[in-house]
Amino acid sequence: WTKSALSIVVVGASGDLARKKIYPSLFALYNDGMLPEYFNIFGYARSKMSDAEFREYIASGLTCRLSNKDECGDKLEEFLDRCFYHAGQYSDSKDFAALSERMAAKEEGRKKADRIFYLSIPPSIFTQVAACASDAASSPSGWTRVIVEKPFGRDLESFRELSEELNQHLTEDQMYRIDHYLGKELIENLTVLRFANLVFEPLWSRQFIRNVQVIFSEDFGTEGRGGYFDEYGIIRDVIQNHLLQIVALFAMEQPVSLDAEDIRNEKVKVLKSMRKIDMDDVVIGQYRGRTTKGNHYPGYLDDKTVPPGSLCPTFSAVAMFINNARWDGVPFLLKAGKALHSRRAEIRVQFRHVPGNLYRNKLGVDLDRATNELVIRIQPNEAIYLKVNNKVPGLGLRLDVQKLDLTYKSIYNKHLPDAYERLILDVINGDKRLFIRNDELEAAWGLFTPILQEIEEKQIAPELYPYGSRGPVGAHYLAAKYGVRWGDIMNSEELESV
Ligand code: BG6
Repeated sequence: WTKSALSIVVVGASGDLARKKIYPSLFALYNDGMLPEYFNIFGYARSKMSDAEFREYIASGLTCRLSNKDECGDKLEEFLDRCFYHAGQYSDSKDFAALSERMAAKEEGRKKADRIFYLSIPPSIFTQVAACASDAASSPSGWTRVIVEKPFGRDLESFRELSEELNQHLTEDQMYRIDHYLGKELIENLTVLRFANLVFEPLWSRQFIRNVQVIFSEDFGTEGRGGYFDEYGIIRDVIQNHLLQIVALFAMEQPVSLDAEDIRNEKVKVLKSMRKIDMDDVVIGQYRGRTTKGNHYPGYLDDKTVPPGSLCPTFSAVAMFINNARWDGVPFLLKAGKALHSRRAEIRVQFRHVPGNLYRNKLGVDLDRATNELVIRIQPNEAIYLKVNNKVPGLGLRLDVQKLDLTYKSIYNKHLPDAYERLILDVINGDKRLFIRNDELEAAWGLFTPILQEIEEKQIAPELYPYGSRGPVGAHYLAAKYGVRWGDIMNSEELESV
């Protein structure tokens, strides 16, 4: 009786994100014993579906990680027994009131019932759903929290509108804005690496760091998702949120504590200190089709869901700067693209040269490659490694570059939780560290809106690059302008070994 019930409502229950990410993460949390004892899951969408059909739908996207596979069936059955479906309109309070009654029936007998609404729906209906959920289906006895996914608007103006509308129905406290990159293991570790070790933090500044690269690449195109993607483009889809969030965490000062507000205060300071982006510091590209070894890979414009002649960028590289004492003059190079050579996300920190290097004539590589580089590979094959110059063993004196290597799978023999698992658990626990605050979004949109507008107004044509290539050549010129070489391309052998 003293334990609370928890109802989790997935609004947009039959969507792609729900099937691929939300249900599997909920099931994984259940498997790991991380969900409260009295939980229920409610799918909510417009189409009619029975509970049994809903359960089948969920099951089709689930895999079981238990070592004893016999237990999987039981666990799955138990989990599915807690899943229910409720059909209703997104803008009808009566439908939400009926949902609320169904939830209440399941919550009965518990002193307190908490509710989470996961809005897995297009932003155009965020507000109406938030209004209905808040008016007609909030928990009468416990807390009610709402998870929203990007896109949070298309630019500063639409973001402000959306945010004002949502604020009429929800308090900041209730809102959990997901950026799923913040839920990734290595991103969580970024602050640990910096602030729980002595060796990195003293080097973490313009004095020792030449440049920082945040790289995201996918080896597949939009493939059917072009309708959504074309409205946004890669800058809004990946750079303005995922990559910029990484920069903020990477560059922030040490927060007063690990409390959500303290961390987000520091992140927002970084975002507000960033220099206005110059259009000369932006490269955009779009992938074109390519036939290689008898296989044809379609170009972006070949995607039937993409409007003909679209100029939407599927690749972008941006040079950004932080105007503060720590980072003045250090280029932060962000690069993201679809249909590239490999799938990866990483942070590369290139350090300065060793002044007066005694061994400059003994280096096995040119001076540029011989500078230390710290690589934080977010995915796949999570790793942190530091490239150091080392003496090749034996007589004589020759140096080569080796790695001090912390590759997760060779050290931690365990499955890493999906970002969504961590984030949903944080919502249950009311931990907002990994969620985006409104003022962070305001600053992020403030940075990118002018260049997005310029690209669109001037109809700047993206540079074409072949599917599966390393992206447009303009990205190399951009890096070269700041005396930088992209680490992922310079060290392409590291890519092959992942
Ligand atoms: C999403 C973008 O936010 O992140 C997608 O909308 C992208 O376009 C995806 O594919 C990448 O996420 P992950 O976790 O697979 O790297």
